[in-house]
Amino acid sequence: MLSDKQKQLVEEVRKLKAEKNALILVHNYQRPEIYEVADFIGDSLGLCQKAADTDADVLVFCGVNFMAETAKILNPAKKVVVPHSGAGCAMADMINADDLLEFKKDYPGVPVVCYVNSTAEVKSVSDICCTSSNAVEVVRSLESDRVIFVPDQNLAAYVASQAPEKEVIAWKGHCPVHHFVNADYVEDIKRRHPEAKIIAHPETKPEVTALADYVSSTSGMLECARKDDSDQFFILTECGMTERLRQELPGKEFFGLCNMCFDMKKNTLELVLKSLQDEKEEVEVDPDVAAKARGALEKMMNVTK
Ligand code: 13P
Ligand code: SF4
Repeated sequence: MLSDKQKQLVEEVRKLKAEKNALILVHNYQRPEIYEVADFIGDSLGLCQKAADTDADVLVFCGVNFMAETAKILNPAKKVVVPHSGAGCAMADMINADDLLEFKKDYPGVPVVCYVNSTAEVKSVSDICCTSSNAVEVVRSLESDRVIFVPDQNLAAYVASQAPEKEVIAWKGHCPVHHFVNADYVEDIKRRHPEAKIIAHPETKPEVTALADYVSSTSGMLECARKDDSDQFFILTECGMTERLRQELPGKEFFGLCNMCFDMKKNTLELVLKSLQDEKEEVEVDPDVAAKARGALEKMMNVTK
């Protein structure tokens, strides 16, 4: 339920959005009131696809910085603005381009698969990008039987479990929001919610994904819960996703973690309106870096077409 103040903000955002021919892209973890002004709500892959193919003049990206940067790289002619320029990603910050160049020296000729949760600079020295929804497909698409995978060790382990024909050499990054969940926690959920199906994000540890009924990207979770006949689900990802599922599938019951990605929650409805009004928080990517990063992103988009 929106407050009167929120309803007024939603109206103002919608009006200005139409006047400016803006597109508002919203990640699943955003605050529910931001969903109200979204043109599209989705996971990283869906958001990349929308950003790459739009007639809008301005993109307002409600997520974290690597996502907005990716939108700018994929569609450099557009103005991309963000509500809060300080919305980072702890995992993306666990590797920089110099770290990766040094790491690559130990594995000459081995291609680098870079999770989209990374900086533009890291993407620019990678061979191909992936998201949580296409990581297995991307790794399988490569001829090499060995791949370097950065920065998430857990997504790397999940890919290795699904594509055993590949050797996956992982950088030891992780997402603090997902990495704390362990097998004991999942066993406890199973005792407390014996009827619930468990859906885990692949950023959780291998001991967690091994116990889940489904492992999926955030938008994939919606599809799993829609298709599965069960009435109850326990969602192992950032808490905003549980709220999103409750809104989309009101006939089903969702339980979830209390873990919050504070960066995702830096965006507010007030800031969305401000970003549209003054267009000051514009996303810029160095053109040389962007050109190289675009190559890695476009390769990914071609695999997932
Ligand atoms: P999705 O692409 O599955 O939405 O994941 C993004 C993310 O940052 C998960 O922590
Ligand atoms: Fe990054 Fe984790 Fe937040 Fe996703 S949930 S944006 S991986 S810190």
